[in-house]
Amino acid sequence: MPVKKLPDDNGTTLTVVDLDGYYLPILYELKDQEEEIRSLPNWKVRTDDVMICTYPKSGTHWLWEIVKMLVQKKAERIQTVKETAMLEMIAQEACDKIPSPRVLNSHVYFEYLPKDFVKGKCKIVYAMRNPKDVAVSFFHHHSNIIKYDFSGKWGDYVTRFLKGNVDYGSWFEYTRKWEKVMADNPDYPILATTFEDMKEDALREVTRIAKFLEVDCDQAFLQEVTDLCHFDKMKKEKNALEEQVDGWKDGKPGMYRKGDVGDWKNWFTVAHSEHFNSVYREKMKGSKVQPRFTLC
Ligand code: A3P
Repeated sequence: MPVKKLPDDNGTTLTVVDLDGYYLPILYELKDQEEEIRSLPNWKVRTDDVMICTYPKSGTHWLWEIVKMLVQKKAERIQTVKETAMLEMIAQEACDKIPSPRVLNSHVYFEYLPKDFVKGKCKIVYAMRNPKDVAVSFFHHHSNIIKYDFSGKWGDYVTRFLKGNVDYGSWFEYTRKWEKVMADNPDYPILATTFEDMKEDALREVTRIAKFLEVDCDQAFLQEVTDLCHFDKMKKEKNALEEQVDGWKDGKPGMYRKGDVGDWKNWFTVAHSEHFNSVYREKMKGSKVQPRFTLC
């Protein structure tokens, strides 16, 4: 796939690969990345697969850890990282070797996912996070991971993010596409949650997810899973594992950064916020999606 250096308004670039105009991260470790991604819609699925779908930086690691514990019915730290089950990051052969029940995850659009997920009615957990916090989190992600070769400034990044000049494209497009998938397929088993709902009451959301996945368990187990997946615990216990993937600058993994709702207020100036809000209104016109930018 052609490597593309996406410039911001100041000419600073972010390095991605270009799949017919859809940007993806470069995955040096994946031989034949293009072939694998193009074949993704035809990958074999299993009826007990659970699929986690998110735009990047929406709490995917958190959700994956929760769902893994729930389906394994064990409140025990997962000794691997979610990237080992991330469809666009692994080869089909590696995916086929993951033992059932598989908890897969991906940031790609629904149309790139294996078509048989729909036929097999595999359960999907979809999570959204408010785009201002996503932008801040993604800025740190891009700044700290070597392969992006990115050293842009935050002010320019706001415009870059709004234009979708990042891997996986625009938050707006991703979110609107999922809104349509859910509206068009009311019978399809998709559970929607948000980062903010999980921060507001993690036990409530873990309980909803367990019910959706038909996990037969008691309240004590749900509480244990919730506690083990608390940000502080995950940061302490999973950071070392994350070090092995993604190639972080200075060897410092940054996947578990702040884990808050509303950190954007420390980054957005009034002008950034007003610009963001006006683009948001235009891009999300007619949408029923209502992200929560703060928790009261
Ligand atoms: P911040 O950069 O705002 O801290 P993803 O897993 O989709 O890449 O999302 C990463 C974001 O989720 C980061 O946000 C990270 O800190 C946050 N996160 C990861 N685990 C979390 C947890 N257990 N609780 C709350 N936030 C978590």
